[in-house]
Amino acid sequence: MTKQQIVQELLGQAVQHASTQQTVRCFAHANIALCKYWGKRDTQLNLPITSSLSISLGTLGSHVQLQTRPHTDRIQLNDQILPTQHAAYRRITTFLDLFRHSNRYFFDLQLTNTIPTAAGFASSASIFAALVKALNTLFAWQLPTSKLCILARLGSGSACRSLHSGFVLWHAGNQPNGMDSTAEPLNTAWPQLRLGLLITSSQPKAISSRQAMQHTVTTSPLYNSWPQLVQHDLVCLQQAISQRNFHTLGQISQANALAMHATMLAARPSVLYWLPDSVKQIQTVQQAQQQGLPLYFTMDAGANLKLLFLQQDEQIVRQLFAQLQVVDPFVTDLQQAAT
Ligand code: PMV
Repeated sequence: MTKQQIVQELLGQAVQHASTQQTVRCFAHANIALCKYWGKRDTQLNLPITSSLSISLGTLGSHVQLQTRPHTDRIQLNDQILPTQHAAYRRITTFLDLFRHSNRYFFDLQLTNTIPTAAGFASSASIFAALVKALNTLFAWQLPTSKLCILARLGSGSACRSLHSGFVLWHAGNQPNGMDSTAEPLNTAWPQLRLGLLITSSQPKAISSRQAMQHTVTTSPLYNSWPQLVQHDLVCLQQAISQRNFHTLGQISQANALAMHATMLAARPSVLYWLPDSVKQIQTVQQAQQQGLPLYFTMDAGANLKLLFLQQDEQIVRQLFAQLQVVDPFVTDLQQAAT
């Protein structure tokens, strides 16, 4: 099945008149997986082999301003107007092609990321989620969030988790068209939980997460055990969240990230994202754990660590890591966060 067929199925004839006067503004959170999405059963539709569970990053994410314009797309990312040959320009316009209706519309898109893009934190998830929200308003589709998740997933798999705040479960689903592969919020607030972003490298990655994921699925002898491990971790994490058991949440999240990296390390040839600073930071966390500090980390397909800790330990964690951006994931009100 193609992306275009999915769009057709979701939007049907409810197509498609954009107000050419209207400017739409939307925001979507960045999200970090505690149990990772690692492996696709359909690379076209970004359908995952397993379910995954994430936490959205409150006020960190992407703001999108969208309107129509004649002839070509214009995309501004933070302060830069993207040249048409830029990889991000091509990826976003290819996605927008799904919604142009025989070249009737082109778009003016201004994207502002509040997550540090230069630091290698994934921003594609929040960009595609915010973009889909904006298209929904511009074209007055009135789609429910579950369906917006499906559209966002066509842009980037993990984008479907960025449509919700707090803890989010992305169901792998099993239908070939992926209509059951959508995200749902767990609706459990945990106001004491904190995330810490550590910037290890702002260098572009040698291999994209998309390529590394596929390469791992097809060549890593350890990949076979991944789906079973995820099944176990998802059960433990959901239990930990409902009981506000921080130790279990941290331990399972950390172990899950390390297991994902183990599958990549075993791929042939091996994929290694870690830098010397990543290893130093991992060791600092492990030493703190040995001394009894409830501090854990997770990592995605990159060199940067994301820390997990509780509000009460923020000062100690800041002493261990001078360059730390602390995120309060349950403050989602942009005004409240600014005060
Ligand atoms: O959605 P993608 O294609 O950017 O893949 C995300 C993969 C990881 O960040 C490594 C894991 C995850 O679940 O977010």
